[in-house]
Amino acid sequence: MEPVRVHITTYGCQMNRLDAELVAQRLRTSGARVVDDSAGANVLLFVTCSVRAHAENRVFSNIGALAARKRRQPDLVIGLLGCMAQQYGGRIRSRVPLVDVVCAPGRLAELPDLIEAARTKQASPVVALDPPRDADAFAAADAALDEVETCRPLGGPSPGHAFVTVMRGCDNFCAYCVVPNVRGPERSRPPGVVLEEVRRLVGQGARQITLLGQAVNKYAGREGPRTWDLADLIEKVAETPNLARLAFITSHPRAMTERLIRVFRDVPAVCPYLHMPAQSGSDAVLARMNRGYTHRQYADRVAMVRASRPEVAVASDFIVGFPGETPRDFEATMDLVRRMRFSQAFVFKYSPRPGTFAAEHYADDVPMSEKRRRNQALLDLVQEICGEDNRRFVGRRMTVFVEGPSPRAGKDPGPFPQLRGRTPGNRIVVFDGPAGLAGTEVDVEVTDSSPLTLFARLAEAVCPGGA
Ligand code: SAH
Ligand code: SF4
Ligand code: F3S
Repeated sequence: MEPVRVHITTYGCQMNRLDAELVAQRLRTSGARVVDDSAGANVLLFVTCSVRAHAENRVFSNIGALAARKRRQPDLVIGLLGCMAQQYGGRIRSRVPLVDVVCAPGRLAELPDLIEAARTKQASPVVALDPPRDADAFAAADAALDEVETCRPLGGPSPGHAFVTVMRGCDNFCAYCVVPNVRGPERSRPPGVVLEEVRRLVGQGARQITLLGQAVNKYAGREGPRTWDLADLIEKVAETPNLARLAFITSHPRAMTERLIRVFRDVPAVCPYLHMPAQSGSDAVLARMNRGYTHRQYADRVAMVRASRPEVAVASDFIVGFPGETPRDFEATMDLVRRMRFSQAFVFKYSPRPGTFAAEHYADDVPMSEKRRRNQALLDLVQEICGEDNRRFVGRRMTVFVEGPSPRAGKDPGPFPQLRGRTPGNRIVVFDGPAGLAGTEVDVEVTDSSPLTLFARLAEAVCPGGA
């Protein structure tokens, strides 16, 4: 049989981006080649997201579009991995008959065998799902994933930056959210495993580490008799020599402890960036969402964080058009945004997800036209505030972590490509500079701003030519 040549397409959140890295690594160690060009592949894998209908529809149409190719290339193996795999299981065939492998997020370490089974037609489709929501049932699969993750070479998301899983799954059951159903129960990786992985990645040149969990500040990792919380873990991870930046996403407002806020202030490597989604500013909506806090409690948490670390950039997510959201509820969200002045906000139109509490108990009663209107109004407000706040940075010198070429690079070819980097608060900065700076920290002077971007030039020490 031909050697395996895999192409991977990724959708969804940072966890999926890390999962795609792990899939590539696992397949490489089994002798497969991972290729960038999908046309040359004989295995096409899709690491998918179920969080909104839109995310799923893109996958349905992208896999559906492969029908003609599959007829030409009958041995082509198509794999549906990640959250949609767990959500649909083998039933996915009724939506996309082309799928040969269905593999849930917890079973990714088994992919070489699953692909082999599909190639030798042992089953059609080959299906590997996660067990029911019971942490013990995940232990063996988690250990296999831990091994792949801990031993992987430094890869994405950008040069010198690595994601590290600290928690898998979620137990929060926000009423709208499919994640607890598709990612299983909350499991914290042992601190020793996380620390070893961080040391290995930094040893290979990582300068920035982002710790990942759906509610990462609920971390409770066991080491012998002791349980570590996220503050303990951050203190230890930050001691890793040569680690410049440490971030953690995503924080749940209810789990923001005073001790974590202190560590956030006192450990210099920790970025002044807090992604702590509010979801809504209306207490009635927050209660129906099962978020476990009021707008007041949310605002108090942000105030505590800002009192201890004034420069912190707070980012949030919002859902507009949740069932029963009245114009007044929406105004309360606008009001919260005006008061909190988020550095960044991701706004989503409510999408009922099968199997969630909200989809089963509340009518999706805000019309799409109204969801769109609220979505736009909230985005406009966020932009206006970010525009004002970004102007404060003009004229300032800042340290930027360079990600690589800006997506706009190449349109205006000067002596240097346009690079994109991030401030410690995760704001996007673009500036001209040599491509070799990717993965390092440099000082820049901010010369201009827009709501989403700071424009800068390299500070002179880095660029003696004065460019
Ligand atoms: N664990 C993270 C978020 C995971 S999902 C957290 O709790 O912050 C990312 C975002 O998608 C959520 O914050 C929410 O704003 C949005 N989202 C989740 N389910 C959704 C749904 N059914 N419809 C619309 N947006 C949704
Ligand atoms: Fe979903 Fe809530 Fe868990 Fe986030 S905390 S993944 S929104 S259930
Ligand atoms: Fe992430 Fe989407 Fe799954 S947001 S956890 S990939 S449902």
